[in-house]
Amino acid sequence: MFCHEFILADLRVYDNCAKVVKGCEHVFNLAADMGGMGFIQSNHGVIFYNNTMISFNMLEAARKEGVKRCVGGGAAVGAPPKPLLVAAPVSLCRPSQLLLRQQRVHLPRARADDDGPERWAEGERRLARCGAWLRVVHTYRTRMSLLPHAPRRLPTRQPQDAYGLEKLASEELAKHYGKDFGMETRIARFHNIYGPYGTWKGGREKAPAAFCRKALTSASEIEMWGDGLQTRSFTFIDDCVEGILRLTKSDFAEPLNLGSDEMVSMNQMMEIALSFEGKKLPIKHIPGPEGVRGRNSNNDLIKEKLGWAPSISLADGLKVTYFWIKEQLQKEGGDAAKYAHSTIVATLAPMELGALRASDATEFEKK
Ligand code: GDD
Repeated sequence: MFCHEFILADLRVYDNCAKVVKGCEHVFNLAADMGGMGFIQSNHGVIFYNNTMISFNMLEAARKEGVKRCVGGGAAVGAPPKPLLVAAPVSLCRPSQLLLRQQRVHLPRARADDDGPERWAEGERRLARCGAWLRVVHTYRTRMSLLPHAPRRLPTRQPQDAYGLEKLASEELAKHYGKDFGMETRIARFHNIYGPYGTWKGGREKAPAAFCRKALTSASEIEMWGDGLQTRSFTFIDDCVEGILRLTKSDFAEPLNLGSDEMVSMNQMMEIALSFEGKKLPIKHIPGPEGVRGRNSNNDLIKEKLGWAPSISLADGLKVTYFWIKEQLQKEGGDAAKYAHSTIVATLAPMELGALRASDATEFEKK
């Protein structure tokens, strides 16, 4: 047991929130119904409902209890992409590419005679896929002119998935509670946290754990959702904990990125996972939930406000995670091959309020 008191409770229920914050001066609300792409893209409704209930009730319970500092975790998916790049039209020449938020967007080339709607629409689709709020206003041969969407068409915020929308709403609530009731609230936007004790099987696991598990159990080829050129940054749990504590002690009450800025493609991360035991396997790219095309943490603000930023390299953090998952596999025994594939969690409905999932806290019972 790694804490002196452990209460297993459904935090969607206000009375339970009031019970767990009783007598606390500091509250760290890191509870959420969450997971990687295999969960969040097939479970918008349950995630939105459960997480809204948890975040809102915990904040209100902390307020009523007179808690001094309340820290909540947002997620990078809640961060709306910035309106991109351009204040004036941009013309693109050959090659029809544009570097948008560190991703290269290949715009469709014109056929000699074609300036038609298909190419136009495909250009807009590719821009939208990488989160750009740009529209194609004119194409001519290999040139394409882009404008930001007219303000009336701009969504004011554009979080990823219902999961991100809830994080954004909860951030706003925390800010209002801070201003309206004088509570000290702190908001961290986590960038894919991973490490030992994280979920590593069953469909909710995120890519770092999934890749380690597959590297350990695949025999002739290794499966990966998508083309592997998706980019992410991943934050080791120790950096996350240190960042949370530093943020708590700081005076900064606005949302802050808490994430590594070491950006890798999924192909690169798989290479790292395979390297720990000198494995060499071809990657089999298969269709699956991919999420955003690219994401990285901008750490300018955290450096400015905390004088610190996450620094544990992916190679170091992933190695610890890999060998921890290896231990778990050894404990489980049985046919390792069944772990070579990732599953997608079926769409779930919220459980009855007050009920707990059969799997909840089983890891605590084992200790
Ligand atoms: N999980 C998983 N499992 N992802 C895989 C796999 C696999 O077997 N194979 C390839 N991928 C790819 C996914 O398709 C995605 O493009 C990328 O690896 C990263 O997937 P995840 O780690 O599952 O999620 P994410 O980075 O898109 O989003 C996660 O992090 C956010 C915070 O930064 C999610 O956990 C979000 O809920 C979270 O907010």
